[in-house]
Amino acid sequence: MSKPTRAAAFPAAPRIAPSILSADFARLGEEVRRVIESGADVIHFDVMDNHYVPNLTIGPAVCKAIRPHTTAPIDVHLMVKPVDAIIPMFAEAGADIISIHPEATEHVDRSLTLIRECGCRAGLVFNPATSLSWLDHVMERLDLILLMSVNPGFGGQAFIPQVLPKAREARARIDAWVAKGGQPIWLEIDGGVKADNIAQVAEAGIDTFVAGSAVFGAPDPDGYYRGIIGRMRAALESVGARRAA
Ligand code: DX5
Ligand code: ZN
Repeated sequence: MSKPTRAAAFPAAPRIAPSILSADFARLGEEVRRVIESGADVIHFDVMDNHYVPNLTIGPAVCKAIRPHTTAPIDVHLMVKPVDAIIPMFAEAGADIISIHPEATEHVDRSLTLIRECGCRAGLVFNPATSLSWLDHVMERLDLILLMSVNPGFGGQAFIPQVLPKAREARARIDAWVAKGGQPIWLEIDGGVKADNIAQVAEAGIDTFVAGSAVFGAPDPDGYYRGIIGRMRAALESVGARRAA
């Protein structure tokens, strides 16, 4: 098996990004391979520190361990405070995208700049009650905007529908930015996404869909995930989900 240190390519939208938080940690490499072979586009990697959020998960060593198992982008969601010291470690471990919460750094602009200096794409994450006004000053620093549709810390929580108008506002901001010559920015959602609400989420302008428990909780009899990913893909197609870079 080849051992990429970065993704082979960044897939076109709509993108399905299973969160390995709900995978079987005892066989993580196999889970990563199976979910991508089943039609997923991106691996979402949740990092929790028992400080910024009340849970503790996985770090750069685990990112490094799964890197050889996929050429899909690894999308690292840092729920870590302070965050700057861990950014270069994830870049070194093979992350393609690194996202931070504005509440988890004293200097949002500096942390976003650091992510790109480390050779990764940069994302900013908005909790359900975090204002999009942070975007007023950092659009040029961003490759991804991640909207939380649960409060961060745990998989398997219920979708918070108040994120939908926020998604429409973020979509309008991105489209206006691109229309005046700005770089493309992915619009991702995270939390409580299932096959039966993904179409509604897509209609609000989301192009990248994190799903943890919905995917890893629904293996096919052969242990792959083609059934659930196929249902999500079909739901996205039914609403003509946004095709974009
Ligand atoms: C929550 C994490 C999510 C989580 C999503 O803090 O950021 O990525 O794993 O899990 P589900 O899809 O089960 O809500
Ligand atoms: Zn996440």
